[in-house]
Amino acid sequence: MSTHLLLGQTLAFDGDPFATDWSAVTRHDSHGAVLVQDGRIAAVGGAEALRAAHPTVPVTDYGQALICAGFIDAHMHYPQTGIIASWGKQLIDWLNTYTFPEEARFGDPAHARKVAETTLDLALAHGTTTLTSFCTIHPGSVDAFFEAAATRDMRVIAGKTCMDRNAPENLRDTAQGAHDDSAALLAKWHGQGRALYAITPRFSPTSTPEQLEALGALWAAHPDCLMQTHLSEQHPEIAWVHELFPEARDYLDTYERFGLLGPRGLYGHAIHLTERERARLAEVDASVVHCPTSNTFIGSGLFDLMGLAGARLRVGLATDTGGGSSFSMLRTMAAAYEIAQLRGHAVHPAQLMWLATEGSARALHLSGQIGHLGPGAEADLVVLDLASTTAIAQRAARADSIWDALFPTIMMGDDRAVRAVWVNGKPAQQGLARSSTQ
Ligand code: GUN
Ligand code: ZN
Repeated sequence: MSTHLLLGQTLAFDGDPFATDWSAVTRHDSHGAVLVQDGRIAAVGGAEALRAAHPTVPVTDYGQALICAGFIDAHMHYPQTGIIASWGKQLIDWLNTYTFPEEARFGDPAHARKVAETTLDLALAHGTTTLTSFCTIHPGSVDAFFEAAATRDMRVIAGKTCMDRNAPENLRDTAQGAHDDSAALLAKWHGQGRALYAITPRFSPTSTPEQLEALGALWAAHPDCLMQTHLSEQHPEIAWVHELFPEARDYLDTYERFGLLGPRGLYGHAIHLTERERARLAEVDASVVHCPTSNTFIGSGLFDLMGLAGARLRVGLATDTGGGSSFSMLRTMAAAYEIAQLRGHAVHPAQLMWLATEGSARALHLSGQIGHLGPGAEADLVVLDLASTTAIAQRAARADSIWDALFPTIMMGDDRAVRAVWVNGKPAQQGLARSSTQ
């Protein structure tokens, strides 16, 4: 049996701070401890009490650093790691100019393997322990991602991106081929170790009705799988969807009419929603994923976080790299804060931290399993140094509460704030943890 005691400040949630007063559902302990046993969190409590109860267990003392659930990136594209921060385009031009040529390279399994490894290592260095990724049309790109994640013992969700129109020829599959490839990959990977499969039509402009229908049928046959796609990201995209699907009531209906709207549906962006779309997403208990650095970088618009999370819709938080401009979920929280400010709302740091952990887990239907600092949850943890740069340290030194101490790290922090990462109950990378083990 492998057991370990981590000491530091701890931050946990036992409720949704968008549904109730954040102070009623947050648990902060300035001298806390987390007992990790066989890959799971066995207990969270006071340092003295847990030390006394487990006197022979190895201890890692992180001092004043903050132990939290690992961050969960609920929507990203690992094949776009190499083109992050590419200049000057909005969505459709950005896809054609930068994204599709890069994704075409993933027919080469060696390239896919290299980028998968780079991306997962970048995620861990930034404190992200779960990624939900689009792959490319190539089945080998899915194998590469799941294999690299298994090597790192990470819980990940991914799927083959399906496209049979409006993409270069070397990036197009067919309705039947997409169905069959996805079915084979799902059988191979879903529930294998910590891997979960998501059926992945890229977005309705790049799928024919036949392909959407075939993937809807596959989802109906495997309703325990997630289905991930994009929804209502930019105005020109929405206008194009209306041209391609003149009979559809709205963008969401292009999925709904083919069986691609359901409780385990994950709809990335969801910025420019009609009243019907909002009501229907809520009615079927679907999830939307907020990708704030992408929304500003590609110039998409201002997501209605307070409106949607406040209405108890499942809302995840995500980098959307390479459309997003950062691998850091701290930077992503900062962008979510800034977008909400532009809509007239100040999101509390408790709400931001909840979104990056519990909120994303809820969007992925993995509540209590990941993103949760509590007994029974998988022991994926991030330990944050709240004084990681001179600028942050001088501001945090004035703090009179944990929230005042944490907010500068949310707004100005990056991978330098990540003191340690634990994955499935083990330290993620040797050398990342700078603390002493006693
Ligand atoms: N819509 C369809 N594909 C993509 C993509 O790769 N990135 C973003 N941001 N939006 C998309
Ligand atoms: Zn995306």
